[in-house]
Amino acid sequence: MAEGPGFQVERLRRLFRFFAATQCRGRSPVYEALSEGVAGNDDLLNLLMSTPGDQRRPSLLFAAVNLLLASNPGSALAGYYPIHGGRRAVDDRLMPAFAAFCAEHRDELGRLLRTRSTQTNEIRRCVALRLGLDHVHRHWRGPVALVEVGASAGLNLLLDRYRYRIGGQETSSEDTAPVTITCEVRGGTPAGRFLGPIPEITCRRGIDQHPVDLTDPEARAWLEAFIWPEHTGDLAVLQGAIDLAVSTANVDVVPGDATTDTARLLGELPGSEPIVVFTASLLSYLTADARAAFAAQLQQAAAHRPVAWVFAEGPGLVATAEDLIALEGPLARRNSLYLVGASLRDSERREAALLALADPYLRWLAPARNETDDFQWLPTSTDPD
Ligand SMILES: C[S@@+](CC[C@H](N)C(=O)[O-])C[C@H]1O[C@@H](n2cnc3c(N)ncnc32)[C@H](O)[C@@H]1O
Repeated sequence: MAEGPGFQVERLRRLFRFFAATQCRGRSPVYEALSEGVAGNDDLLNLLMSTPGDQRRPSLLFAAVNLLLASNPGSALAGYYPIHGGRRAVDDRLMPAFAAFCAEHRDELGRLLRTRSTQTNEIRRCVALRLGLDHVHRHWRGPVALVEVGASAGLNLLLDRYRYRIGGQETSSEDTAPVTITCEVRGGTPAGRFLGPIPEITCRRGIDQHPVDLTDPEARAWLEAFIWPEHTGDLAVLQGAIDLAVSTANVDVVPGDATTDTARLLGELPGSEPIVVFTASLLSYLTADARAAFAAQLQQAAAHRPVAWVFAEGPGLVATAEDLIALEGPLARRNSLYLVGASLRDSERREAALLALADPYLRWLAPARNETDDFQWLPTSTDPD
């Protein structure tokens, strides 16, 4: 079948249904109902067709509507969004209110969909970064340089400025930090301290195709628009992290493409200590060829200086960039979860280890029981269906 507009709309319809079932169920009754509703509404699906192909995602439509709701808090739709002060439970008037709001703001919505791209920054993923840093530190003692590729606004680069409550335990030395990251531990909390001390970070840099300038109120509002309707706590955490980043001015995200600029930008960093390259939710933006190109960039950089790639990404996507025995089995198909791992590379060797399987937003993680764990012990009922 030719991939004409009709084919694309059907693809989008399936994507909304998949999003409802795998991302929203159990996390957001409002987005679950709206995703199902949009899947059955050709007018709204066609509206999203004005967006460039690689950006046609449910999250883009929902963020654009959410942004417009921030300046229309009295609308019927805002009544369903706790982040806009709404208290109404999901009922059969939600989808009509959504469709009416989209019709009323069709021009503005169309402009946002044509010109904006998906932009999130989830600082809970710092937990994955810290697990990776612990692993790196066990193999390479001493300070490290830190680079996040696909860094968005760069909020994960401030990992040592946040407090952590992991598996109910405070694990931070930053007692006065204004932002607390919480993460549940599944499969049994390992004995002792779950996360080790953060090593000295000699320099920190973000690379992103579209860096977010947090001093620009519009860019800030767009980032905040990706918070889901019921997640008022997440909004407070994001706002706290943004305020911290703006006040410390310690976040440097430079424009660059993961697939062509990574090796050059790593090569420009001062010093000779190992570089920890963190990616979280980047690989889903890259084609299989682009993922291989990114892995080749890391290898190129590792010829000059040790490079550790710490990742929180879909297992099947990691499998295309990294050779791991555990990924030859069913683990590679558990793509609604994220695999946390680290791959240490220098001019002579490359060694990867799996550290945890986690919810994509790091609301929970299940630590690996050993470095080749394929997580068969973790019930698949954990995976959203
Ligand atoms: C889902 S966000 C994740 C941001 C951050 N890593 C986090 O976990 O919160 C993905 C980011 O990757 C960036 N991105 C997508 N493709 C890229 C590429 N080829 N090179 C660099 N950045 C890219 C996007 O601009 C976006 O900021």
